[in-house]
Amino acid sequence: MSKLWGGRFTKTAEEWVDAFGASIGFDQALVNEDIEGSIAHVTMLGKCGVLPKDEVEQIKNGLQALREKAAKGELEFSVQQEDIHLNLEKHLIDEIGPVGGKLHTGRSRNDQVATDMHLYLRNQTKEIMDGLKKLQQALVTQANQHVETLIPGYTHLQRAQPVSFAHHLLAYFWMLERDYGRLEDSLKRVNVSPLGAGALAGTTFPIDRHYSAELLGFDDIYYNSLDAVSDRDFIVEFLNASSMIMMHLSRLCEELILWSTQEFQFIEMDDSFATGSSIMPQKKNPDMAELIRGKTGRVYGHLFSLLTTLKGLPLAYNKDMQEDKEGMFDTVETVKGSLNIFAGMIETMTVNVDTMEKAVHHDFSNATELADYLATKGMPFRQAHEVVGKLVLVAIQKGVFLLDLPFSDYEDASELFEKDIYEVLNPKTVVARRNSAGGTGFEQVRVSLQKAEQLLANS
Ligand code: ARG
Repeated sequence: MSKLWGGRFTKTAEEWVDAFGASIGFDQALVNEDIEGSIAHVTMLGKCGVLPKDEVEQIKNGLQALREKAAKGELEFSVQQEDIHLNLEKHLIDEIGPVGGKLHTGRSRNDQVATDMHLYLRNQTKEIMDGLKKLQQALVTQANQHVETLIPGYTHLQRAQPVSFAHHLLAYFWMLERDYGRLEDSLKRVNVSPLGAGALAGTTFPIDRHYSAELLGFDDIYYNSLDAVSDRDFIVEFLNASSMIMMHLSRLCEELILWSTQEFQFIEMDDSFATGSSIMPQKKNPDMAELIRGKTGRVYGHLFSLLTTLKGLPLAYNKDMQEDKEGMFDTVETVKGSLNIFAGMIETMTVNVDTMEKAVHHDFSNATELADYLATKGMPFRQAHEVVGKLVLVAIQKGVFLLDLPFSDYEDASELFEKDIYEVLNPKTVVARRNSAGGTGFEQVRVSLQKAEQLLANS
């Protein structure tokens, strides 16, 4: 089959060589963006008098027809035509005749593919932002139910201080809020038009790049044609933002997996997000959380893959850059899928309030409270720390917790102790009193929840 660029060639490559160089197997995902870009380009050519109106109409109608065929799955793509751009151009010429060959006036595949990628990522970034909001909403809904549910807070995965379960969940809300902000910010650089930069140097035709940019809804154009066709920063940024999303999801996955163990039993995954074992009848595995934790690796891989591909590339376009696509497509699917599953997991999980409550009554996570108590009464904190450390040791030796020690033990430790310590040591009091801004005190958690709800309502 003849190539659209075959003029200067005396022989054709063998099929397997073509297949190696072709991107049609994956860049057909850009079919709609490519047609949208072409319609804007040819409309602009008409407005600028580069092509007569009737030819512009013919080409636009032809492109519309291709769009409809593509939607019905009736467009066939071939490896001989290499990529989505040449495949569509060939189809257009087949559809409307040689006039279709005028579409590529004043344009190159280099600015064309860059335009497609900008359009694609603009759409997908917005979808992922919606996915983030959905998960944030699920976290807020659960948090609303559990402001006063206590859970041990950990450092070093050792019991540290009790916290409100809502507070713990909302920590993830705020991580995702930063992810949202990163994507939102990246749109400034995604929503810029490279169209009309040509192969690398611009074009001799009297085109209007601002007009085609406007037709495509871009906020601005690239002001350097070399930069326009060789920039893939916006994809790197997307992969970076996606890596951070996955890193956050993966951390929560780890907690969900831990909390679902027999040892913790803080939550139970809904059956619809768990699987059984083919051999052990008792098993209920948090597969989806494990899989999302696992998929984080491939997204990081795509980020590093593209950074490495771009490193050392001279200006302007190089075929290496075709490698920007598969990782990006895979990242889009992975992140969208993970966010969707996650929202479902959070919405449907059962929170074992009693187990959590029991846990905070069976540890020493109220010890800081006792040290603060002494410090409030004037003892230097460092000394208070020592006194309470000794009390903890007494309790450990007796096989009990701080609330179980008789008052005589406290009196022996320091004369500053009064009977109100038993109230002070109560985990509920412990949490409620951490009322500094952003703390786990119930009042603060309600403030944070309200802020979160406001953000969701305004976005
Ligand atoms: N398939 C190519 C890519 O994805 C399109 C651009 C090709 N341009 C060229 N001059 N070979 O990067």
